[in-house]
Amino acid sequence: MTSVLLLNGPNLGRLGVREPDVYGSTSYAELVRLAARWGDEHDLAVDVRQTDDESEIVHWLHEAVDTRAHVIINPAAFTHYSYAMRDAAAQVTKSGLLLVEVHISNPHARETFRHTSVISGVATGTIAGFGLGSYRLAVQALADALA
Ligand code: DQA
Repeated sequence: MTSVLLLNGPNLGRLGVREPDVYGSTSYAELVRLAARWGDEHDLAVDVRQTDDESEIVHWLHEAVDTRAHVIINPAAFTHYSYAMRDAAAQVTKSGLLLVEVHISNPHARETFRHTSVISGVATGTIAGFGLGSYRLAVQALADALA
């Protein structure tokens, strides 16, 4: 089965509790269950992880390259300023793997600082603004691109 790392950045472990008006009321634990199900529907083994630690995500992106896993990533606030994460994400796509950037909200409809993504330029594509459905669409996009 094709492997996919679904990586989540800071504060996303607080889904369901954190600003439900922006991020919805579904918990992170439920996202983990849903993502595994969406993966199963497309024969993708989806490994869902979350950390508040920038270096951990950088290391997971290195792992994706070394184990040949495609990536779905919600870099959360790191989206807007982490050049280290951009450089690690670039290694994923330069190695021929797919990397889909995901956002639950639509950052372009929010504060100005959220309008910049340092990740988008090295991503295969970006999906934003569809709530947790953004992750479901990302799994679908990967499955379509790999078919
Ligand atoms: C987010 C948008 C970011 O601006 C924010 O810092 C997040 C979540 C989203 O999924 O909408 O933590 O990536």
